[in-house]
Amino acid sequence: MIQFFHVGKTYPGGQVGLDDVSFSLERGAFTFLTGASGSGKTTLLRLIYRGDVPSKGQILVNGRNVSSLPRSKIPYLRRTIGVVFQTFLLIERKTVFENVTYLPRLLGQDLASQKKVAFEALRRVGLAHRLSAFPSELSGGEQQRVAIARALIARPDILLADEPTGNLDPELSWEIFKLFLEINRQGTTVLLATHDRAMIERVGHRVLTLGTGHLVGDEMLPPTPTATESPWRETAAPLPTEPGLAP
Ligand SMILES: Nc1ncnc2c1ncn2[C@@H]1O[C@H](COP(=O)(O)OP(=O)(O)OP(=O)(O)O)[C@@H](O)[C@H]1O
Ligand SMILES: [Mg+2]
Repeated sequence: MIQFFHVGKTYPGGQVGLDDVSFSLERGAFTFLTGASGSGKTTLLRLIYRGDVPSKGQILVNGRNVSSLPRSKIPYLRRTIGVVFQTFLLIERKTVFENVTYLPRLLGQDLASQKKVAFEALRRVGLAHRLSAFPSELSGGEQQRVAIARALIARPDILLADEPTGNLDPELSWEIFKLFLEINRQGTTVLLATHDRAMIERVGHRVLTLGTGHLVGDEMLPPTPTATESPWRETAAPLPTEPGLAP
């Protein structure tokens, strides 16, 4: 689904963002991207959604060469990729509903279908009841969940996240990590950049490590048992008992 072949990125000032990076991610995978500050994580993510073009090598997303994509085709690529950043980038004077429906509104979708997709995306992040709240009325974790709902609205195949918990305390970070796992379980390919080694070890899965632009690690970590719990256990209605176990 995402393939890098000897990808390099040198910035105009001569700074090396990535150097000879090759890897491939299967459809439906959950993968962490880690590495020290300046190791190239943001650069790598930006190249996937054509936020920038590589200086060397090739990148295929769904079999298409991203760097040679004509400008007119970039919106199609972006529709298959949702992106979540460290700063939530919500518009403060717009409601949750208006924030998440930014793209459908831009595409001229009618209000009824905007409501349908917004409700569905917000339900997935456990915030369907806060449609009319403003970002300032939400906690940091809730604001990030709105940003995730906004990224999910076009039903992307791939969800990229760049330090999505960088501004959150450990408790909220764990909530957000579990949300990404749940989104992945529902079929979306997830690539998540983070420094948070403790969370990575808790969640498990594949971990790609960058060191000054090079891919220096590619390992599989087993998840801890708690990582497989539902993200909304604490706040949602009680989970139904397993079939056969009900009294
Ligand atoms: N627009 C740019 N122009 C010039 N150099 C850049 C640019 N963006 C990144 N770099 C350089 O490329 C290298 C990789 O940066 P990148 O932002 O990808 O790292 P990162 O792993 O995301 O770091 P952090 O964890 O701090 O976010 C760094 O040396 C950085 O200074
Ligand atoms: Mg970065």
